[in-house]
Amino acid sequence: MDIKLRERIDSIISKMTLKEKIGQLNQEAVSPKDLEKIKERVRNGELGSIILASTATAGNDAQEKVYYEVIDEIQKTAVEESRMGIPLLFGRDIIHGYTTVFPVPLALSAMFNPDLVKTAYSHIAKETKNNGVNWTFAPMIDISRDSRWGRCIEGIGEDPYVGGVMAEAIVKGFQGEELSPSSVAATAKHFIGYGAAEGGRDYDKTEISDYTLRNFYLPPFKKAIDAGCATVMNSFNEINGTSTAASKKLLRKMLKGELSFEGFVISDWGSVEKLVFFGQASDKKEAAKIAINAGMDMDMVCRAFFDNLEALVSEGKVSEATIDEAVSRILGVKLKLGLFENPYVVRQDINIEETEDCAEKCADEAMVLLKNNENILPLKKEAAVLFAGPMLSEKHSLMGSWSADGDVTRVKSIKEVLKESKVNAFFAESDYLWDGILPFVRMADAVVLTLGESRKVTGEANSLTKVELPAEQMEFIKRVHALGVKIIGVMAFGRPIALFDAEPYLDAILYIWHSGTRSAQSAVSALYGDVNPSGRLPMSFPRYTGQIPIYYNREKGAIPLNSYYGETNKRVHSYHDSLATPMYPFGYGLSYTEFSYGEITSDKTKISLKDLEAGDGFSLSITVKNTGEREGAEVTQVYITDKVSSMVRPIKELKAFSKNVLKPGEEVKLNFFIDFEKLGYYNDEGEFTVEEGEFDIWIGKDAYVTDKITVTVE
Ligand code: GLC
Repeated sequence: MDIKLRERIDSIISKMTLKEKIGQLNQEAVSPKDLEKIKERVRNGELGSIILASTATAGNDAQEKVYYEVIDEIQKTAVEESRMGIPLLFGRDIIHGYTTVFPVPLALSAMFNPDLVKTAYSHIAKETKNNGVNWTFAPMIDISRDSRWGRCIEGIGEDPYVGGVMAEAIVKGFQGEELSPSSVAATAKHFIGYGAAEGGRDYDKTEISDYTLRNFYLPPFKKAIDAGCATVMNSFNEINGTSTAASKKLLRKMLKGELSFEGFVISDWGSVEKLVFFGQASDKKEAAKIAINAGMDMDMVCRAFFDNLEALVSEGKVSEATIDEAVSRILGVKLKLGLFENPYVVRQDINIEETEDCAEKCADEAMVLLKNNENILPLKKEAAVLFAGPMLSEKHSLMGSWSADGDVTRVKSIKEVLKESKVNAFFAESDYLWDGILPFVRMADAVVLTLGESRKVTGEANSLTKVELPAEQMEFIKRVHALGVKIIGVMAFGRPIALFDAEPYLDAILYIWHSGTRSAQSAVSALYGDVNPSGRLPMSFPRYTGQIPIYYNREKGAIPLNSYYGETNKRVHSYHDSLATPMYPFGYGLSYTEFSYGEITSDKTKISLKDLEAGDGFSLSITVKNTGEREGAEVTQVYITDKVSSMVRPIKELKAFSKNVLKPGEEVKLNFFIDFEKLGYYNDEGEFTVEEGEFDIWIGKDAYVTDKITVTVE
């Protein structure tokens, strides 16, 4: 930590009473309606932060609006009327947009475009800061292999590399290159393993070995912390027999030790008190003792710290040094944010049109074209196309979960956008009652069914036991298909769904996710070819729910698991009722054009471990060409396989990707540098290592890639 910062922190702490220090560790959800009560508590130095959320599951519940004037009034009380004058942090869940809503983070991951993600979050940060929120509880970077878990939509998918790229881009979008007065402080959450909840049941237990934790779940947090993320939030799940809030091993050894995290740890909603529910504490006082000693720095909303720490210190169960360490971390964030110099909201003009344009560009790049038989898409503007389905007039759900501040009055439905477009789209008398649809089908060259899920079945506390298409939507597809018409499925789902039964009835499938304020404009642009979809899947899509958890980077196994990913023709009969392979693999996505790849070349095929450790590596090249008739973007992906190693390694691991827009006939030469970091893994002792031996390096368009070269570390 910077010496000057250290001195400032120590100077402030030296003047504080124990009660004032404990106040800094306390965050409460207070409604601006109780303004006088809040100001009294702030005046007494009882709060270090206010969470601007009125419920524990802010993702889908209506939230009280935030007024920056009220925030400033509270802040003024803290700065001018409390004895220490320490400014407050005002936190809120700004996950993928403020009044302008961007695609849900899982869809943003599908863009495979970190620069655009960073730009998106810099827009989001402007709106956030302008409303007085100086701390957001994002990015959510929980690896997930299970779309029954509603919170997978908030995260970054199944892959540690994509997760790390997303974590860094979102943190830098909110904070800039480092935490500074122009930042919105970010939160890497939820530490750790939350996405592995058994059965996809939110909040359920997880069992994750250190080996798996370090190689799959930890990398996104390492990238967030290396990007300067201000805070980390613990996770609700029990992991290997303990709550994360009670785990010194996770919070002090792994997070603050191995990852050198210098910010502070905020508990998730009441998760200090939840130690009592876990049976790891007999009461809130014991919970406070366990949590603060484990490395928890700030207590969200349950007042366990505020009500008990003074007594615990006097009883010698918590040292004042432990309290000082937590206060020091919190003051560090407040000082880096410049709150002592500029505690109040600095309003700036925001170009909402520009923000929405960026949101639309993200929606454009997040869409994944899963099927396009006989190039039925893009539609001709003059074709008579009947549009129907439950998402045709929908607006709220297009914004997705965690969009409480989203301005739905600025969202257009797909139907509204079509009516404004110069296309020969027509509608039945009802969007969805299929009897009302059928008489219109005969007039159509093709039918577009806009299907999807409510945002209310995604996000926190919103798991599903099955992720197949809802029965009534499946029935709808069959009834329309029976009339022999071509059908395009537009899928407005937040999570990956199982499409094996639906796919045969659909001539084309366009996955538009829940993509925010401009979702409808983006979908119509893609349907009529003004946008060429370029999204790629950040999670494997199962054929059936029964395959979950399903993910591409699974370890090699006794049976030739490679057939999961197309390397052998032999089918693995692990199920009698389905192939073992996913419906669509990680990294998959079609385009309205085609791309071809040249040979993979490398500057060397052998390297000594010593040279690798010294920073040398393999410089690989490959050419990619647009062999189609129209411009499009290709996401070239680089995977490795550690062929023989002391621990069992995945059949493939993504280690780099590059997205390139190419004009028809255009060719580009791409270079990738494969170094120690990309070849290494955490072994059973927790050491990051590269072992001598052969590595396959694959370069192609998704996890089914078969073109590879073999290199050797000796
Ligand atoms: C919720 C969520 C967490 C959120 C917090 C504050 O329960 O788990 O992601 O940031 O509480 O709303």
